[in-house]
Amino acid sequence: SAQLNDLAVAAGLKYFGTALGEGTINSDSQYAAILNDKREFGQLVPENGQKWDSTEPSRGQFNYNQGDITANQAKRNGQGLRCHTMVWYSQLPNWVSSGSWTKATLTSVMETHINNVMGHYKGQCYAWDVVNEAISDDGQWRNSVFLRTFSTDYLPLSFNLAKKADPNTKLYYNDYNLEYNQAKTDRAVELVKIVQAAGAPIDGVGFQGHLIVGSTPSRANLATTLKRFTALGVEVAYTELDIRHASLPASSSAQVTQGNDFANVVGSCVDVAGCVGVTVWGFTDKHSWVPGTFPGEGDALIYDSNYRKKAAWTSISSVLAAA
Ligand code: G3I
Repeated sequence: SAQLNDLAVAAGLKYFGTALGEGTINSDSQYAAILNDKREFGQLVPENGQKWDSTEPSRGQFNYNQGDITANQAKRNGQGLRCHTMVWYSQLPNWVSSGSWTKATLTSVMETHINNVMGHYKGQCYAWDVVNEAISDDGQWRNSVFLRTFSTDYLPLSFNLAKKADPNTKLYYNDYNLEYNQAKTDRAVELVKIVQAAGAPIDGVGFQGHLIVGSTPSRANLATTLKRFTALGVEVAYTELDIRHASLPASSSAQVTQGNDFANVVGSCVDVAGCVGVTVWGFTDKHSWVPGTFPGEGDALIYDSNYRKKAAWTSISSVLAAA
């Protein structure tokens, strides 16, 4: 039967992709076999390997061992690459987050980091998440060394630095819980406008899509929310999709609901011109960040922990085949 990336491309999307867990790929051959199949996953994104704590753990010491795992795998398999992430409050080494910076010194630190890392991957990334999670769930600007030093001026600064480092990749703002069209979503609309008003380049907004079974918005409401951003002239994508069960084990009816929720998310992307693709944040319930962060929750992905396709996989394939 047809596989998800092939179906997604036939439905008019650019790709259906997955995150690659750097700790998993060389230790689990079943994981590797599915991930390496470009008919299933047309694009890869490193789950952790390109983050600041991995690429520049101490000042000026750059390391690409982890990030290159995904980039090399994608190259070998003929898969695309999304790149993740530059300016983020988390997985940020202490030397950055606890440094005492002026605007000038932090600008120089950001410029060095962005030039090195984006320079290393130059020409390989379909898109880069330039700024990640700059907004709190209540819609306030998220506290970080970047906000404290620059106020919101770090937003256009980051995009301008990224453009200089790799002029041909799509530059994204990426965040979670934008899907609910609430105060946080309003602030993300404002963020795009701030960057644009400063004359800085922004090409896309990533909806991470860390959602909950039974609480996922409808296909129509999701499409309405995506269109708030495409109306500003940027593309959109689902960048880290997983839909977790709030309690486990999941009943068979909860599995069906999960499938419908996945179909609504993927369907909303198909419905919106300017929604370019969907990336799941891992694909098997055997390996996911969810239970570590939300104890007792999980089974958020499209293959079960024995690598059997779930109802969620079938629902996605159906919604893509129907498009
Ligand atoms: O690599 C170390 C290992 O050496 C050490 O022994 C071990 C002990 O804790 O930790 C390992 O690092 C962990 C890393 O994942 C790699 O497995 C970190 O503790 C752990 O915090 C880290 O979690 C990642 C998380 O981001 C951190 O913020 C998850 O894997 C990753 O899935 C998650 O991804 C984020 C996106 O980047 C942004 N959006 C939200 C999403 C989910 O939180």
